[in-house]
Amino acid sequence: MQKVVRKVLRAVADYDPDYYDMYADPNEAFFAQLYLARIRSHADAADIRPPAKVLEAGCQAGRLAVPLAKIGFEVTGVDTSGFALRRAREHAKQAGVAATFVQGKVQDVLSDHPDWRFDAVVCAEVLYLCSDYREILRTLVGAVRHGGLLCVSHRPKFYYLLEALRRYDLRSALEVQQRSEGPFRDTAYYNWQTEDELRRLYESLGLTWQALYPIDRFAWLGGLNPAQMTSEQRDQLRELELASTEATSMARYVLVIAAR
Ligand SMILES: C[S@@+](CC[C@H](N)C(=O)[O-])C[C@H]1O[C@@H](n2cnc3c(N)ncnc32)[C@H](O)[C@@H]1O
Repeated sequence: MQKVVRKVLRAVADYDPDYYDMYADPNEAFFAQLYLARIRSHADAADIRPPAKVLEAGCQAGRLAVPLAKIGFEVTGVDTSGFALRRAREHAKQAGVAATFVQGKVQDVLSDHPDWRFDAVVCAEVLYLCSDYREILRTLVGAVRHGGLLCVSHRPKFYYLLEALRRYDLRSALEVQQRSEGPFRDTAYYNWQTEDELRRLYESLGLTWQALYPIDRFAWLGGLNPAQMTSEQRDQLRELELASTEATSMARYVLVIAAR
């Protein structure tokens, strides 16, 4: 659908048939469980339990924010997209949970509220698209209370290499190998970091590194579609994903968990 038609539909009818709603997508809902399992286990260990305060930066349609609110956390979701937030509010309402959603760049929203402190700040699948990701990270650190957690996902280099190679796009693969940020195929901008670089980055921000986890390794590598599996198979895949800690960087995303 043409961009202008989509814009009008969104404004007039609050409707966009092509919008990729990550909350409503069954595969994305499956991958959300991987994030949530990792985040919850570190939160538990840090004695961060409902109704502790959680910020989700770049929450889109609430794929993580709504389940976190459902568990009982006091959730604030921030996103630049008003359309995404309308979806998030709708999903929260349908799930029967309360969460606060604020529109704006998370950096701006946090600088407008310098007193906001959260027990945990979650930022999943956002920073790999942001050329100012270091500045955003610094702002997010400031919103974590002392003793709280910062949980952020990044893209590993391996993801970009394999995505390019699968399309016989050797030129892009070589560019990714040589450059850790820049344009990538049809994406305006990408960035990747090695585990050592991530560790140094988080430690340079005064955080204590806790863990790095792969998020979506087998479904992505094996071309599997969790939504087409039986629920027993999905449970087994979830168990496999959560048990797999070796060769962390061979995944679609990696999740950093660090403490302030
Ligand atoms: C791929 S979605 C990730 C959604 C969600 N975190 C999840 O894992 O389901 C990325 C979202 O980040 C939002 N975003 C990008 N940059 C942002 C910023 N600086 N502040 C707030 N939201 C941002 C986009 O509008 C988009 O909805």
